[in-house]
Amino acid sequence: MRNKVTKAIFPVAGLGTRFLPATKSVPKEIMTLVDRPLIQYAIDEARAAGIKEFIFVTSRGKGALEDYFDHAPTLEQELRKKGKDDLLEILKNTNMESGAIAYIRQHKALGLGHAVWCARRLIGNEPFAVILPDDVIAAEKPCLQQMVEAYEETGGNMVAAMEVPPERASAYGVLDVQEDMGAMVRVKGMVEKPKADEAPSNLAVIGRYILNPKVLGNLNRMKSGTGGEIQLTDAIADEIAQDRAVYGYRFRGQRFDCGSKAGFLQATVAFGLSRDELKDDLYRYLQEIVTVGKAAQ
Ligand code: G1P
Repeated sequence: MRNKVTKAIFPVAGLGTRFLPATKSVPKEIMTLVDRPLIQYAIDEARAAGIKEFIFVTSRGKGALEDYFDHAPTLEQELRKKGKDDLLEILKNTNMESGAIAYIRQHKALGLGHAVWCARRLIGNEPFAVILPDDVIAAEKPCLQQMVEAYEETGGNMVAAMEVPPERASAYGVLDVQEDMGAMVRVKGMVEKPKADEAPSNLAVIGRYILNPKVLGNLNRMKSGTGGEIQLTDAIADEIAQDRAVYGYRFRGQRFDCGSKAGFLQATVAFGLSRDELKDDLYRYLQEIVTVGKAAQ
């Protein structure tokens, strides 16, 4: 029997400079998509995939993130007194079991690979997931759950993958495909943010991974790569060099790059439209501005 994937690493140490000045005092993972902080989407996805241990790799100034996961007894009491059961329910759904969350500090911003490596002692010798909360994925079946199901068949290492316009490939980790099996591809190489004319394909890595613990060993030896940072992509590619399988998984769903302002705004509209209590008003408003925009042309 393959080991179940029960641990996930959430790298959340980034400064979020693209969202300054907001991120001067608010960690970007707490920024609100409709009414939930970004990190809640990642947590919900992990839970749906069967994750039981949540490891946050943080940095200075992320206190609000830790507070967010605390229970809020005074607030709960107040809501109970006022009979606001619906709000109580919403709060309860954010409660985490005691001991389920661990925080590790990344003392230096040395890259995603380094952030993951910082959690090595908590992972030990089990397969683990990595979720980048900036990548928000709307899907009927949550993306990591799709991947866990596929992983149960294949084992190995698995990264979420998505076709991007070729001119955008240099913004991602890119897969060199050995065999295309449809939803799944077997990978023979991976390049982090290749130069425009050097991308091996336009199949990009999206921020969901299921990894063999040996990747942590690879990270021990990793030298800095693209951008002078220790890259997770390089440590996964190192698995191929050691004859261990790496798969790309074309998930079913829509990915939003909430690490960029445009992506965050698009996600806000899309998630807003998916909510019963908001969709009519929002849709009407969007139609109105599109019509006015057209009239002005
Ligand atoms: C990270 C990874 C990259 C991946 C991307 C997905 O890059 O290093 O391989 O394609 O996430 O969002 P970042 O966007 O953090 O620079």
